[in-house]
Amino acid sequence: MKQNRIIRNVRIVTPTGSEARRGDEMRELTVFSHGLIVIVDGTIRFAGNEEDCPAELLAMHEYEYTDGGGRVALPGFVDSHTHLVFGGYRPDEFSWRLKGDTYMSIMERGGGIQSTVNATRECSVADMSEKARWFLRRMSEMGVTTVEAKSGYGLDVDTERRQLEAIRQLAEDSTVGLNVVSTFLGAHAVPTEYKGRTSEYVDHIIAEMLPAFRGLAKCCDIFCEKNVFEIEDSRRLLKAAREMGYAIKLHADEIVTLGGAELAAELGALSADHLLHVSDEGVRRMAEAGVVATLLPLTAFALKEPYAPARKFIEAGAAVALATDLNPGSCFSGSIPLTIALACIYMGMSVEETITALTLNGAAALGMAAEAGSLEAGKRGDVVILEFDNINYLPYYVGMNCVRTTVHGGRVVYSAPE
Ligand code: NIG
Ligand code: FE
Repeated sequence: MKQNRIIRNVRIVTPTGSEARRGDEMRELTVFSHGLIVIVDGTIRFAGNEEDCPAELLAMHEYEYTDGGGRVALPGFVDSHTHLVFGGYRPDEFSWRLKGDTYMSIMERGGGIQSTVNATRECSVADMSEKARWFLRRMSEMGVTTVEAKSGYGLDVDTERRQLEAIRQLAEDSTVGLNVVSTFLGAHAVPTEYKGRTSEYVDHIIAEMLPAFRGLAKCCDIFCEKNVFEIEDSRRLLKAAREMGYAIKLHADEIVTLGGAELAAELGALSADHLLHVSDEGVRRMAEAGVVATLLPLTAFALKEPYAPARKFIEAGAAVALATDLNPGSCFSGSIPLTIALACIYMGMSVEETITALTLNGAAALGMAAEAGSLEAGKRGDVVILEFDNINYLPYYVGMNCVRTTVHGGRVVYSAPE
């Protein structure tokens, strides 16, 4: 289903390179105001001003054409942190939180993640992937062309495998229209069968799950949090995962300051995510070690928590990515427009930084910056065309979807109705 396509008459705005942009570099975007993008077999062969495109490239292939009408073209968005495969929903829990319950108190009395685990254990692979497709369609409408999906609602070998299998099916299905990347999150919570025996559950993950899911998941993640998996267990599990070839990630310093950021730096994780309560030392060490800080403002918003210190990370020279954290509990939203609005309005990120965070740095958080995240020759033909010709409209349309066309691997996967 790979395609040859020419996208013409666009204002190309893109970060460049095949690794994360750090600190001040996040503001450096390349602009081509008479932009032309040539995609051959799903891969970008040229992105630049029309007058600079070699004539032979245009003559060499047959193309389909998209006229951008002078609008902005960005790299397709990368949502590098989601939990979009799950059973059931938790609306009642959300209402309890509105009345004053906290996320952790609900979890401690057996609700929260465990209640989604109970529902997910009842689901077949087909149930899970069918439900996830709905979210993937909505994401594609919002310009997402690469999405990460985590397991973590099985917490036993069989259900974790079914979740990862559902993710694999979605990744291999060309009708989905997004690149789907899989992360194993067996250490998302301690399941009721292991209550009070956290370290034994970690042993079980290391002995039974990590070896079984090699090849089925690219990354391994953990909810490193007080009273969930603390630093020692997190270090043990992530080291074992790294040795087995997984790229590693952490949910770090989300609810309290625990040192997850420092651990991410020590272990050379691809990313540490959330970081609402990161210490200054954690910020500094992550910047030094080149660990991507993946910030999830929708979760802070939905939990009524303070936003992660994006400016501290950028000023320390770290790479910041933004993602949605779509999940049935702490953040039942995959809204890219609202993520952009919160990042710009409440986290003090500039529009340019926000674009880099949602494209190239998101790709870097998945170890994919060499293949996605910018509009440059050699990258996958993933493009989002917006409704306007100026990137300052992006946060200005607060929470509204302004995507006109989403192109994935050269194929138009979404066109906004007129
Ligand atoms: O990223 N904090 C841990 N995991 C998810 C929430 C999962 C859930 O509540 O179902 C998060 O916020
Ligand atoms: Fe998460």
